[in-house]
Amino acid sequence: MEFPTDANVIVGLDAIDDAGVYKINDVLAIVQTVDFFTPIVDDPYWFGQIAAANALSDIYAMGGIPKTAMNLVAFPADKMDISILRQIIKGGIDKMREAQVVLLGGHSIEDNELKYGLSVTGFIHPDKIIRKNNLMLGDKLILTKPLGTGIINTAIKAGIASPGITETVTRLMATLNQKSAQIMLKYPVHACTDITGFGLLGHIAEMLAGSVLGIKIDSHKLPIIPGTDEYAQMGLIPAGAYKNRKYRETMVDISSTVDRASQDILFDPQTSGGLLICIGAVSAGALVNDLKNDEIDCSTIIGEVVSEPKGKIVVV
Ligand code: CO
Ligand code: CO
Ligand code: CO
Repeated sequence: MEFPTDANVIVGLDAIDDAGVYKINDVLAIVQTVDFFTPIVDDPYWFGQIAAANALSDIYAMGGIPKTAMNLVAFPADKMDISILRQIIKGGIDKMREAQVVLLGGHSIEDNELKYGLSVTGFIHPDKIIRKNNLMLGDKLILTKPLGTGIINTAIKAGIASPGITETVTRLMATLNQKSAQIMLKYPVHACTDITGFGLLGHIAEMLAGSVLGIKIDSHKLPIIPGTDEYAQMGLIPAGAYKNRKYRETMVDISSTVDRASQDILFDPQTSGGLLICIGAVSAGALVNDLKNDEIDCSTIIGEVVSEPKGKIVVV
């Protein structure tokens, strides 16, 4: 399909990336994204925070500074009390305040199923856009949030997750990628994306699309939310994880020493996951230390960009 475009489109629909970028002048471009979904936690205030953090994340992944937002609301007014919607929107507004983003408007419709999210616009210098596929040989991959939100949410729905784990995962999903992005911008980062619905390997596959390089992941280095491995071994795997695996199977080569639960975690769809930052080996250690010093505790190097096999992800 052909899309309308013009000379100022820097990142458009023909490029795989986290958000679109449109140039205003030589020093300013806008970066735009939209995201909304159905509730993933029972508490409406937390759901609002998570949906907002998730929507803002694509701006951070591009190296942009989010500035303005619009609410997107679908609400079943005949089935649900309006106070629930107020709590959701309050959660969203509190996250926007934390991100120093202003709410300019929005739109709501009546719908059978509750949905909430934001469209977000940010600022970025046209020459400082961090693309998702600008990998360089020898780069290290740094992940800033632990994996497992899909598996743990499945355990919560099954009534198995402990209150402690439920609280941990809720807070993680509501955590902005703002601080990680601010720290990342002080370093000569080559590429970045955020880990969401396609799971870790699905998003790495997007980074590798069309590349002459490959990526090697060390499964023992992956930061994982406590409880995830146990629930994965119990088979509490969301359907999305199987879909993600099937979709990217041909690009992925997982060593037989990696157990099944770990493999499922690699494809587990994340909600409001962390940034995956790609940076030269000489700067990677300093960036990880900087992130850790700013309480982005689980930040760690999980893999590297290799020359062979081309266009593939090898997991050991
Ligand atoms: Co993204
Ligand atoms: Co998105
Ligand atoms: Co990016």
